[in-house]
Amino acid sequence: MTSPSNGHAVDSQEKAQALATRRRIEYHEADVVIIGAGILGCALAVALGRQGRSVILLEASMKEPDRIVGELLQPGGVQALEKLGLLDCLEGIDAISVQGYYISYFKDPVNLDYPRETPSSPEPRGRAFHHGRFVMKLRQAALACPNVTVVETKATGLVTSTHTQQVLGVECVTDDMKDCYFGQLTVVANGYDTKFRDGHHPHKPKRRSKFWGLEMIDAPLPSPCYGHVLLSDIPPVLMYQIGTHETRILIDIPDNLPAASVKNGGVKGYMRNSVLPSLPKNCQGPFLDALERGQLRSMPNSFLPASTNKTAGLMILGDALNMRHPLTGGGMTVALNDVCLIRELLSPEAVPTFEDTELVLKQLARFHWLRKKSSTVINILAQALYMLFAADDVNLRALQRGCFRYFQIGPVDQPVLMLAGLLKQPLVLVTHFFTVAFLAIWVLFRETPVNHLVMFPFRSIMVFWTACIVIVPYILAELWS
Ligand SMILES: Cc1cc2nc3c(=O)[nH]c(=O)nc-3n(C[C@H](O)[C@H](O)[C@H](O)COP(=O)(O)OP(=O)(O)OC[C@H]3O[C@@H](n4cnc5c(N)ncnc54)[C@H](O)[C@@H]3O)c2cc1C
Ligand SMILES: *[C@@H]1O[C@H](CO)[C@@H](O)[C@H](O)[C@H]1NC(C)=O
Repeated sequence: MTSPSNGHAVDSQEKAQALATRRRIEYHEADVVIIGAGILGCALAVALGRQGRSVILLEASMKEPDRIVGELLQPGGVQALEKLGLLDCLEGIDAISVQGYYISYFKDPVNLDYPRETPSSPEPRGRAFHHGRFVMKLRQAALACPNVTVVETKATGLVTSTHTQQVLGVECVTDDMKDCYFGQLTVVANGYDTKFRDGHHPHKPKRRSKFWGLEMIDAPLPSPCYGHVLLSDIPPVLMYQIGTHETRILIDIPDNLPAASVKNGGVKGYMRNSVLPSLPKNCQGPFLDALERGQLRSMPNSFLPASTNKTAGLMILGDALNMRHPLTGGGMTVALNDVCLIRELLSPEAVPTFEDTELVLKQLARFHWLRKKSSTVINILAQALYMLFAADDVNLRALQRGCFRYFQIGPVDQPVLMLAGLLKQPLVLVTHFFTVAFLAIWVLFRETPVNHLVMFPFRSIMVFWTACIVIVPYILAELWS
């Protein structure tokens, strides 16, 4: 800062920054307008702001969110957070370090530790926390960014040019007053039930089940510091500690599950009659207490394939773009990896100004294919495992048994690294999946009494066929959308 020329440069930079701030606040104009200060919106605002872009971040409610989603961040997500320089958002939120999975099958348990990627790399760790606390930390990071202005307002529509269809900004309602924000690039990041996908995204979310959530207090888990997956003859139940005293339990209930029908006492009846006896003894008390307190909440479990963005001036990201079953807790990891990639593809070096909508579109087309490197495995694994874990016919049950057996005896380092969001090779996933299918057939063979062996060839073909039906549609969804 000693040479005068340097001083001028700093001066003019400060002036430009002050001007950009004024444009955001007085004229509601920025390089980027982001709808939704959730996981993706905040991380993206910080990433772009730090690159010198002028960013407006719109959020319907700045109060701490209280939701049952996004509470376990896989090691792959922790890594992405570190790349973005946001690792400190995991500090001071009473987060629990997670070292792997505990999977039980009719109370027969197996522990799967996140393995090191190479012998010399550190042991991967995930984090479990209260979603709202983590989001508030991310929002603080955005608020601390001089190039980002956060506005509490509800987005109600996109402003589009009537003749070019280009998106120019966002219509909002702030304290019952209509308002508009304009950006060269508008980002839709307001989550799973966004209205702004219509006309810009060819797919609709598909839902087969909901997760119902309760918070248990001081529940002693069989394996502290592990994400618990409980399998039996009911759909999967997840448990993980999210604070010193709190443990989340998520119960998957497929649409039209007979055991949860009104006749059988509805969801509460299902919890008492089917879920309670399937839980570890020590957790049953805290579970009943939580049920009595009556804070049952639910969220739809959706599947939504991603698609290339083709609208000038627009970018759809996060759950608004792409969703998979939350069984494996991969959503935030996908979102944060996407921010890392976007930050590269839309850097000032690659795209000097977002006014160049054609160049932005070109980079977004590249984004669509490049992001698959980190999202494909997470997406397919989540959907395929869910089908197995929620098995509702004999063939799926055979695959479920084979899968659990594989967890017990198989070479599971790669599968666990895939769950962690650290191994990103779809072919490796497919290989393991079909190994599970063959193991399932072997287990079936061992279980078949001699006098039933004539049927075995038929049964084994059905199991193999079912395995194909489980995984192939999701592979195609990744290849063709
Ligand atoms: C039951 C369940 C459990 C899950 N568990 C996990 C897990 O353990 N680990 C994991 O990684 N992922 C999990 N996920 C997925 C994860 O929650 C999402 O992938 C992640 O939250 C997506 O982030 P996002 O920023 O796209 O959306 P969100 O986090 O939903 O953020 C959207 C933001 O937009 C705001 N908003 C909405 N509408 C408007 C509007 N009109 N105007 C202005 N602002 C608006 C909202 O207030 C919110 O702040 C789970 C999902 C479900 C359904
Ligand atoms: C803000 O943007 C300016 C360019 O306008 C850039 O030089 C500066 O590094 C950015 N500041 C921060 C803290 O990210």
